[in-house]
Amino acid sequence: MIVALSGNGAVARRVSRLLHSSLVSLEQKKFPDGEIYLRFPHNLPHEEMVFVQSFHGAINDKLIETYFSAKSARETSKKLILVATYFPYLRQDKQFNPGEVVSNRLCADLVGSVFDEVFVFDPHLHRENTLSHIFSAKSTKLSANPLVADYIKRNIKNPFIIGPDWESYKWAESVARMVGCESAILEKKRISSRKVVVKLTKKIEISDKNVVIIDDIISTGHTLLEAIKDLRKIGAKKITCIGIHGIFVEGALEKLRKAKVNVVTTNTIPNPTSKIDVSQVIANYLSR
Ligand code: R5P
Repeated sequence: MIVALSGNGAVARRVSRLLHSSLVSLEQKKFPDGEIYLRFPHNLPHEEMVFVQSFHGAINDKLIETYFSAKSARETSKKLILVATYFPYLRQDKQFNPGEVVSNRLCADLVGSVFDEVFVFDPHLHRENTLSHIFSAKSTKLSANPLVADYIKRNIKNPFIIGPDWESYKWAESVARMVGCESAILEKKRISSRKVVVKLTKKIEISDKNVVIIDDIISTGHTLLEAIKDLRKIGAKKITCIGIHGIFVEGALEKLRKAKVNVVTTNTIPNPTSKIDVSQVIANYLSR
């Protein structure tokens, strides 16, 4: 049985169709004081249940929704699996300032503790090497890289791939290898959550190329906007920005469109740019 939680009903529905599994979604309401009310459509059967969630928007409400509903299902279900198409708090992976709470492990601990197995799509693992460093449950990383490479091969001729910061090499370089094209990684200095400086560290020739910037997360869009500025200076004409997870806060998508770039994301977070569907990858893993 697939359980569609509030963050990614569309992918949950597709996965249930691909696997010919039953699908349930929860009724959800908010009480006047902010507490949430959850109700499964019927009492749950004693079978394996796969919860599909994407932790974007009201992230903390979604954490409670996931924790409460899974904990309740635990009373009857044989096995509980979480598929997090986007998993939050992973960028808070060290104390940047004294006294700070390092949230990545705490979040993984809170949610992961209820499940027997966890699948996470393209997690932002920077200082942690693998998901097993943060989850105690069995955990598997899923990747949209082959789908992104396929999208580029089908839609973009003569591409040159750029990673806007060091961490993005896992996406940019890996996709460039799959496509068989050149790539370069820029250097980024983060000043604050809304200010970054991005610079080119080597000479590249891109004036006759279709530039594709690939990053795992597009949040405020500042990382991409800074990279776009630099790339325009050295002659980039057509630019496509591909994000695995399009969070798009504070008008990021509008800002990127104003910068005259094409924006494409996967549907790990549903939004108008979701042109790459990850459902089949999930279905393949679940049917193994
Ligand atoms: C962080 O290193 C990530 O890979 C992204 O580059 C970052 O989260 C993007 O954030 P923003 O869109 O706010 O610049």
